[in-house]
Amino acid sequence: MSAPKAWFEEWFDTDYYHSLYSKHDQAEAEAFIDHFLQTLNIQKGAKVLDLACGRGRHSIYLHERGFKVTGVDLSLKSIGIAKELEATGLRFYRGDMREFLGHEEYNLVVNLFTSFGYFETLSAHASVLDRIHSCLKRGGHFILDYLNTAHLNIDEEQHELSVDGIDFTFFKRRHQDKIVKRILVDDRDKILEFHEEIMAFSEAQLRELLVKAGFEIDGCFGSYDMDAYEADRSDRIIFYARKV
Ligand SMILES: C[S@@+](CC[C@H](N)C(=O)[O-])C[C@H]1O[C@@H](n2cnc3c(N)ncnc32)[C@H](O)[C@@H]1O
Repeated sequence: MSAPKAWFEEWFDTDYYHSLYSKHDQAEAEAFIDHFLQTLNIQKGAKVLDLACGRGRHSIYLHERGFKVTGVDLSLKSIGIAKELEATGLRFYRGDMREFLGHEEYNLVVNLFTSFGYFETLSAHASVLDRIHSCLKRGGHFILDYLNTAHLNIDEEQHELSVDGIDFTFFKRRHQDKIVKRILVDDRDKILEFHEEIMAFSEAQLRELLVKAGFEIDGCFGSYDMDAYEADRSDRIIFYARKV
């Protein structure tokens, strides 16, 4: 008998996830990349790994902006959709960030829109960062975009949302060292349940994990507009780190 799937193997592979988060779309991805390319000095033509690329919204635009991009994601369905847009210098494949990612291959690795923090232990997260560090060339950069858990409005209340005739009800709460979101989906004749569990990493914990993996931190931003990070105001924690 095969082991039950982890929540992140199941939920991100559903169309429900994409409906619920549909406002985080191609336009949002392009605006963010425009901002970070204005703010950070990343050389044209650089080899980029978009780790946990989903359907490839950032990869596609990074490629348009002149980078050689590889997108990797665990979701078979998302990679299937992304693959339809493959071109010279834009490749997608199914892969797991907990496995080998390459050796000194990339100039830049991006991990965007809270695509980290899914695993059970601190050491599992540390070993993902080690793999990212190994797959970067010396002097290469890493962008880690996490939600700012210090600024999250977490309560036990239920929230409801309807998208394309599907009703979503969710409950968000802090449980031990995690932020847990229970998601009920009412899709006409069926009721389904999913959940998300993200480690409630603070800015300081992420910083420590990055430094332990061998990164030097060059900047920390608090939004997709690349404003400076402020613990009590920022929605995001976006680290810009370098392999030294
Ligand atoms: C919140 S989504 C973000 C996707 C994409 N970065 C974006 O902004 O649209 C998180 C992604 O992480 C992927 N993922 C989850 N666990 C993974 C793993 N172990 N290795 C690679 N990708 C993973 C999911 O399949 C999902 O596409």
